[in-house]
Amino acid sequence: MTWWPHSSRSGSGIGMETRKRRHIDVCLHGPVEYETVTTGLEHYRLPYNALTQTSLRRVRLDTRFLGKPLSAPLLIGAMTGGAELSGTINRNLAAAAQRLGVGMMLGSQRIMFHNDAVARSFAVRDIAPDVLLIGNVGLAQLSEPVLPALERALEHVGADALAVHTNPLQEAMQRDGDTDFTGSIDRLRTLAATLRQPVLLKEVGHGIGAAAAAALAGSALAAVDVAGAGGTSWARVEQLVRYGEIRSPALAEWGVPTAQALLEVRRTLPDVALVASGGIRTGMDAAKALAMGADVVAVARPLLAPAIQSADAVVEWLLGFIDELRVCLHGCGAADLAALQRGGVLTA
Ligand SMILES: Cc1cc2nc3c(=O)[nH]c(=O)nc-3n(C[C@H](O)[C@H](O)[C@H](O)COP(=O)(O)O)c2cc1C
Repeated sequence: MTWWPHSSRSGSGIGMETRKRRHIDVCLHGPVEYETVTTGLEHYRLPYNALTQTSLRRVRLDTRFLGKPLSAPLLIGAMTGGAELSGTINRNLAAAAQRLGVGMMLGSQRIMFHNDAVARSFAVRDIAPDVLLIGNVGLAQLSEPVLPALERALEHVGADALAVHTNPLQEAMQRDGDTDFTGSIDRLRTLAATLRQPVLLKEVGHGIGAAAAAALAGSALAAVDVAGAGGTSWARVEQLVRYGEIRSPALAEWGVPTAQALLEVRRTLPDVALVASGGIRTGMDAAKALAMGADVVAVARPLLAPAIQSADAVVEWLLGFIDELRVCLHGCGAADLAALQRGGVLTA
């Protein structure tokens, strides 16, 4: 049975802007989350301490990431840009990030390379002057000729850093996806060593595990965002956009679960700054990921619907998340993030 009633079955020849709009529609209304794979965080628990010596009100969540202060260890995940609606989404997310002092990742800026008109959908610096703002480009689209356009796009939005997303499974699900990843590790290493801004590598929900992390050893990458399996599956999103239904469930459910990805990358690259994302849905998920070695967490899809509504709706969602995280630290006797990390997690 076809799930997505208005999807074109051809899938080819649609413009990037239309594809972005379909991504948003499918992510809002479709069954895009993993059905059988979980983050694995449920296999861990925080050590609860009935005799905590902390005061909830005074628990500190502030930290620094990529050289900028954050009032909580939280980034709004990379979502979108390019489609008309994306401007509204980005501005509501950015206004919320500014109000709460958290960071924000923009969606892929590739569309800006050839289309000046869409640049305004990424413009948020006027309302988010202090926010840690991270630009975005796909590893598969990274080549020497695009570098000047990429640098211009980063300048244009006022990005503090760049996230490069690696997404071989997502691209393989698209009819005209970029499926040649040969030489991409070298291109990433060169970019990380030469770009003015710090470079972070992320997945899009299928996870960066031990093998990928090992390939990054000795590189100048500033951070890795594991973007593991257990939340939004982009192999699901692309199948729904292309066919209106899931035709390869095994591919839709494939990836390195977030908890496993986190442990593998931390073990392989002990000194790299680490973002936990992919299915991070609650303050408790965040607390466990931080206790397992992440420096910050990122949340994407749960913020999409609030971002279409208003900045207030995004703030409300984030405040609930941050409040729960604060209670987690209090309940395990951690007055700050360093104490949370010293306490670690127990296996459930
Ligand atoms: C609507 C939408 C658009 C996205 N666009 C991008 C993108 O342009 N670049 C990128 O690196 N990741 C993109 N992502 C992936 C997210 O950043 C994230 O890695 C993934 O959704 C898993 O996190 P989640 O389970 O919290 O949604 C997008 C996610 C959503 C929901």
